[in-house]
Amino acid sequence: MTTRIIGTGRCLPETVVTNDYLSTIMDTSDEWISSRTGIKERRIVKNETTASMSAEAARQAMEDAGVTAEEIDLIIVGTLTGDYITPSTACEVQAAIGAVNAMAFDVNAACTGFIVALNTAHLYIQAGIYRTALVIGAETLSKIMDWNDRSTCVLFGDGAGAAIVRSNEKGIMSFVQGADGAKGLSLACKDRANNNPLVQNPKDLNYTAMNGQEVYKFAVTKVPECIHQVLEDANLTTDDIKYFILHQANIRIINSVAKRLKVSEDKFPISLDHCGNVSAASVPILLDEVNKNGLLQKGDKIVISGFGGGLTWGADIIEW
Ligand code: UT7
Repeated sequence: MTTRIIGTGRCLPETVVTNDYLSTIMDTSDEWISSRTGIKERRIVKNETTASMSAEAARQAMEDAGVTAEEIDLIIVGTLTGDYITPSTACEVQAAIGAVNAMAFDVNAACTGFIVALNTAHLYIQAGIYRTALVIGAETLSKIMDWNDRSTCVLFGDGAGAAIVRSNEKGIMSFVQGADGAKGLSLACKDRANNNPLVQNPKDLNYTAMNGQEVYKFAVTKVPECIHQVLEDANLTTDDIKYFILHQANIRIINSVAKRLKVSEDKFPISLDHCGNVSAASVPILLDEVNKNGLLQKGDKIVISGFGGGLTWGADIIEW
């Protein structure tokens, strides 16, 4: 037995923030952002929270799957921007949707968060411990951006994507995941300052800082490598894959991965143009777009892959 995705959903904040708008509040331009990244606009929260977007994406995924809240045994949210340190976003979602029979917890693997959450659910399911799980990737990245740092804040957006997964004979065929903590500070956001009485001059809150070129180089080598690995583990080639659903950080990264895999860019659907980089939410949002656009038929094989903070990476092959 393995784990099948039986329903998907997504929720984006209402407010659209265009590159042109950003160029009115900081020294940037649509030309710079579009040509370097492919991003045209992103959604940013006003009243939405990580949990409220997660719960809405979950409701849509449950409807798509035809599953009730009571049937869910496990909720895992991949996020680095929960609303609270505790309770977890997953516990907030459990309460919001009434999944009274579910265990719930978050995982933080940054932009690989949805992949790691999915694989964790898969292993519980494969072990026979749970049958049905709700897996979410959700972020409110706008709250951890330095809005005076044009080199990072223009790249990211907010949103949530969800999938209902269930024990089945078809589904996840192989997965790989990995981490390189030694390179972690190339994409980092420090936690709150410790102001206990023993600490002198606690430092202020920090925001996200990234060595873009370092992360870029990591992504364009590690992603093709881990995709080759999952293909090999599943005894498949790139020809067997209908779509490569990658974390949406930069169109140049995606095109470079396509080139290194010798696969047409047409097989790489894109949401970064209208969502920006939504970290753990990128993959499930794009997966839902592809699913709801009717692009997936039963039996199709897809690759999903995430990469980023940690540094972390991962990929799965999934039979639809
Ligand atoms: O999800 C996590 C994974 N993250 C990623 O995968 C990100 C990977 N990295 C990247 O996508 C790219 O490195 C960036 C898009 C972040 C940056 O592109 P780049 O081609 O590496 O640009 P750069 O950092 O080398 O900056 C080039 C120039 C600099 O000016 P000078 O020093 O050449 O005069 C920057 O100051 O662009 C300037 N710049 C900007 N100009 C206008 C930086 N940000 C902006 C901006 N608008 N927003």
